[in-house]
Amino acid sequence: MLTELELAHLRAEVAARPLPRHVGIIMDGNGRWAEQRSLPRLEGHRRGSDSVREVTRAARKLGLPALTLYAFSAQNWQRPPDEVSGLMDLLRDYLHRERPEIMDNGIRLHAIGELDRLPARVRDPLEELRRDSAGNSDMVLTLALSYGGREEIVAMARRVAEDARAGALRLDSIDAEAIEERLWTAGLPPLELVVRTSGEVRVSNFLLWQLAYAEIHLTETLWPDFGEEALLVALDDFQQRERRFGKTSAQTRRAR
Ligand code: IPE
Ligand code: IPE
Ligand code: MG
Repeated sequence: MLTELELAHLRAEVAARPLPRHVGIIMDGNGRWAEQRSLPRLEGHRRGSDSVREVTRAARKLGLPALTLYAFSAQNWQRPPDEVSGLMDLLRDYLHRERPEIMDNGIRLHAIGELDRLPARVRDPLEELRRDSAGNSDMVLTLALSYGGREEIVAMARRVAEDARAGALRLDSIDAEAIEERLWTAGLPPLELVVRTSGEVRVSNFLLWQLAYAEIHLTETLWPDFGEEALLVALDDFQQRERRFGKTSAQTRRAR
């Protein structure tokens, strides 16, 4: 834990250097956070939604253009029904509670995933806030809900095939750009940093295509303990990296 003064110093340092255009976070460890305290897992998820608020606020203040939060995976439907339903209640509550903050701060809310699988109590307020915030342009906050990277790639492949069959896409125009235009993340800035909390070292079906050249920051911190300080540490780590995109270090330094 940093002192207030150290935190202010880190905030100023991070803000003075180039920020990633798009940060994705795999928010993991809610269950373990609760289990360590002999609390129900759902209490961990509830505390996790407080972290979502703190991190979104900090990202907005810093001026991050895009933040994508992995809140519920396509595979998470396999969890016990009580946990799934509790998570859906928390999402519904989140969408109602955060609405004023999102609208007042110029945040555009976006969602990616198999959204038609979500219950109406989540889908309806989500659609409403998505529509109402569509004109906001200071930051785009994307919730990955019922999301899977493989599922996204399958959906993209279907769209490519449909467009090709309809004559709207020629086979020799299928390139990386044509693919990106048909992913759920179409229009978002390129993913530059991915954070995973709770010490796990895997991707768990998050933004598989988009991860190609993202920097990865891993932390032992459990998601309910992740806040502004942890975000700044991740951004500071990103800012120390040399992004080479296949080139040599000398070429990369020369291009800067
Ligand atoms: C992340 O926390 C939240 C979701 C996946 C919905 P977990 O619930 O996976 O927490 P752990 O991994 O069991 O600690
Ligand atoms: C990844 O966490 C999904 C989210 C954070 C929403 P999981 O806890 O579901 O991932 P695994 O099961 O450990 O790979
Ligand atoms: Mg987990």
